[in-house]
Amino acid sequence: MKSGLIILMLFCFLSGGLLAQQRNVIDDEAKVPEYKVPDVLTRFNGGKIKTAKDWYRKQRPEILQKFTQEVYGKVPGVLGIHEVKVWETSPDALNGLAVRRQLSLFFKKGDKSLEVNVLMYLPKSQQKVPVFLAYNFTGNHAVYNDPNIRLTESWVNNDPSVGIINNQVTEQSRATASNRWPVEEIIKSGYGLVTLYYGDVDPDKDDFSDGIEPFFYQENQTHPKFDEWGSIAAWAWGLSRVMDYLEKDDLVDAKKVAVLGHSRLGKTALWAGATDQRFALVVSNESGCGGAALSKRIFGETVQIINTSFPHWFCGNFKKYNNNEADLPIDQHMLLALIAPRPLYVASAEGDKWADPRGEFLAAKYASAVYELLGKEGLPVKEMPEVNHPVMGTIGYHIRSGKHDLTLYDWQQYIRFADKFFR
Ligand code: GCU
Repeated sequence: MKSGLIILMLFCFLSGGLLAQQRNVIDDEAKVPEYKVPDVLTRFNGGKIKTAKDWYRKQRPEILQKFTQEVYGKVPGVLGIHEVKVWETSPDALNGLAVRRQLSLFFKKGDKSLEVNVLMYLPKSQQKVPVFLAYNFTGNHAVYNDPNIRLTESWVNNDPSVGIINNQVTEQSRATASNRWPVEEIIKSGYGLVTLYYGDVDPDKDDFSDGIEPFFYQENQTHPKFDEWGSIAAWAWGLSRVMDYLEKDDLVDAKKVAVLGHSRLGKTALWAGATDQRFALVVSNESGCGGAALSKRIFGETVQIINTSFPHWFCGNFKKYNNNEADLPIDQHMLLALIAPRPLYVASAEGDKWADPRGEFLAAKYASAVYELLGKEGLPVKEMPEVNHPVMGTIGYHIRSGKHDLTLYDWQQYIRFADKFFR
């Protein structure tokens, strides 16, 4: 009896402690606690940044370093493309409207090798064309109804409803994501689409034995170190390697590459844009926590939740901020500021509270100070616009009606936005 009581008390004590760790998810603006985000133009040592020169020389490198060290992790080494194999360049895609090019980038180190399949649809043109570069979630063949698209052999998350069985895609998976990829609209607007499956670079699971990470392991290493890349940084690295290729492609204008991503791939596009200034324009579609949304608001998904559900996405150091966002030396508006002065579009959806639309808007607003310092407009509004009323300065923003998704409406805004800078 007595020992039963002790066990019960111990249980209550332990579960009380655990429960105290679990915060309720905040989805009501009135419940957002007091929080303070760092001023993007104040240095970590307290000094103030007043000139563009000081931004580039002092503040930008320090902010980039903090995100690398504390959030996404550093790339542990250098590895270029070993070989490019172009499978085809066909002038007859989309009923003759576009050129379809498919190629593989091969990476090699010691006995390890990795193949990354790239699919390109390009408008026919006398000149090199601007492109949207974007990862897809389930393979290139899912993007468009075209039997010529090669199937990935990489691990893909099982989803029998779209023909993904035993972690492999099948013929049945073709065009199953085509609602997210208005290829004809993109081509008719004069843009190319360059897309690749993110799992070719690193399968999206908490397993660091596959994908690109092991290429850099020292002897007996099985995981990246605490300050080394998680999957988001690995995927961003992959986008930079595609950029290495695009700089050599004879049909693409590599000075006009807009990197775009939805959700976890929006987080990835932002980190790619921050770390690689060759990306001329960056689009974050509903990237949420660890993307465009402020972490310190703890609205919707939090650092603790994301690090628990997806322990492989960020670097080990980021776990220090589980239920401890106040200690973060940075917040996500400072990530957005790293993209300045290049055009940046942040998009939210009304039905996507998980990604904290207001937190995404505020991050874009707070990043504007850097754009202004660099002589650009930043966000053209101070208050969140109405649903379906996009605003476009050098930072663009919209919140559209509907749920978490990448829709034709979103793409239409990105094309309009790109037109402002690329035409
Ligand atoms: C989950 C995750 C988000 C992420 C999203 C996605 O919802 O919590 O952080 O953005 O998946 O990538 O679809």
